[in-house]
Amino acid sequence: MNILLLGGGGREHALARSIAKSKLCSQLFIAPGNPGTAQCGKNISVSATDFEAIKKLCIQEKVELVVVGPEDPLVKGIYDFFVSDKDLKGIPVIGPSKDAAQLEGSKAFAKEFMQKHNIPTAAYQSFDVTGYEKGIEFIQTLNTPVVLKADGLAAGKGVLICNTLEEAEEEFKDMLHGKFGGASEKVVVEEFLHGIEMSVFVLTDGINYLLLPTAKDYKRIGEGDSGLNTGGMGAISPVPFADELLMKKIEERMIAPTIEGLQQDKLVYKGFIYFGLMIVNGEPLMIEYNCRMGDPETEAVLPRIESDLVDLFLGVANEKLNEKKVSISDKHAATIVLTSGGYPGFFEKGKTISEINSIENSIIFHAGTTEQNGKLQTSGGRVLAITSLAKTLEEALKISKTNAGKIQFDNKYFRSDIGFDVLKS
Ligand code: AMP
Ligand code: GLY
Repeated sequence: MNILLLGGGGREHALARSIAKSKLCSQLFIAPGNPGTAQCGKNISVSATDFEAIKKLCIQEKVELVVVGPEDPLVKGIYDFFVSDKDLKGIPVIGPSKDAAQLEGSKAFAKEFMQKHNIPTAAYQSFDVTGYEKGIEFIQTLNTPVVLKADGLAAGKGVLICNTLEEAEEEFKDMLHGKFGGASEKVVVEEFLHGIEMSVFVLTDGINYLLLPTAKDYKRIGEGDSGLNTGGMGAISPVPFADELLMKKIEERMIAPTIEGLQQDKLVYKGFIYFGLMIVNGEPLMIEYNCRMGDPETEAVLPRIESDLVDLFLGVANEKLNEKKVSISDKHAATIVLTSGGYPGFFEKGKTISEINSIENSIIFHAGTTEQNGKLQTSGGRVLAITSLAKTLEEALKISKTNAGKIQFDNKYFRSDIGFDVLKS
């Protein structure tokens, strides 16, 4: 079948690689894609949020399945666009409906959903500008640090961890007054959870679900989890401390009630759900939902999935996921992201990337690269993701680290301590 994948980062390169391997895939189109996805299929220069252009492409290329990588098109309603368009009806979209994508698109909506369906999460309240005084009162009842979250999508920057109440009050005011534009018209104020983070991914057809490999990403720019938040500097899969008991708690307390809650609330969901969790003294609490796979977690998770990904997607589309199984490699995956120096602040683009073809024993996923006159150059903050698979996490990390050192471009930066926290314990 002809498949269209939307997006153009490292996650999409990993998805493209797995889709292209499927016996069920005859032609893969990626819009807009990147030089990495071009090795797996045909890149089409169409934005993932230009629905009319995507429609034209689907009709022209006889696309039979659409897989959505990033959250933007989902939150903007690409699922509903396909369902309601008579020319596109019948082309399944892997992703949630617009209403269900609110689980990521609105933090207040997600928290209400968790509360309604008794899914354990941090104590919180949400406020708009009319609730300013009440918000300040609520902040004063919390211990520090205080977590403030812009309700809407804010390019991954909308969560502030404030170390003093004064700072929290100041930031709360600024957020309500447009610090993140419309995204912070509403603000979720919540208690800070002290624990260790991990991510769980499921693929659901809205009724059944399949558990995918667990992963842990490393969001901070600096070694030892210091400095600014980024999109993600590396990932490991599986999470060594996610034993059977913890996974049972997560399935019973988070995953099953989420799937049931979606049905109860008539939220149509046929895609990936990302459960962002904080484990506090062995007990899982929900931090957030994402309505897509994580990046760079996908680059660690998908290479461990041995099942045919397109076959799983067909199970989603036909609501027959109960008939499918995911087979997962025993190997450990370690992903290290190479970034442009300066990221997540200002960084320069257009640096020539070399030595990439000499890399052995790792999969190189392209995130922010471009090809100019046949030469590969940097074009984003996160440039490449290097994934290695090995019998042990230590070994996988060692290979990725060695290869991260080999690839060259000016001002290259990477964290050499990915996995440090779980290896210690
Ligand atoms: P998000 O944008 O929701 O992924 O949040 C960004 C990061 O903020 C999360 O990955 C956590 O590291 C941190 N965070 C969010 N909420 C909390 C919380 N209630 N307690 C502690 N850390 C949090
Ligand atoms: N790596 C975090 C995310 O994809 O949201």
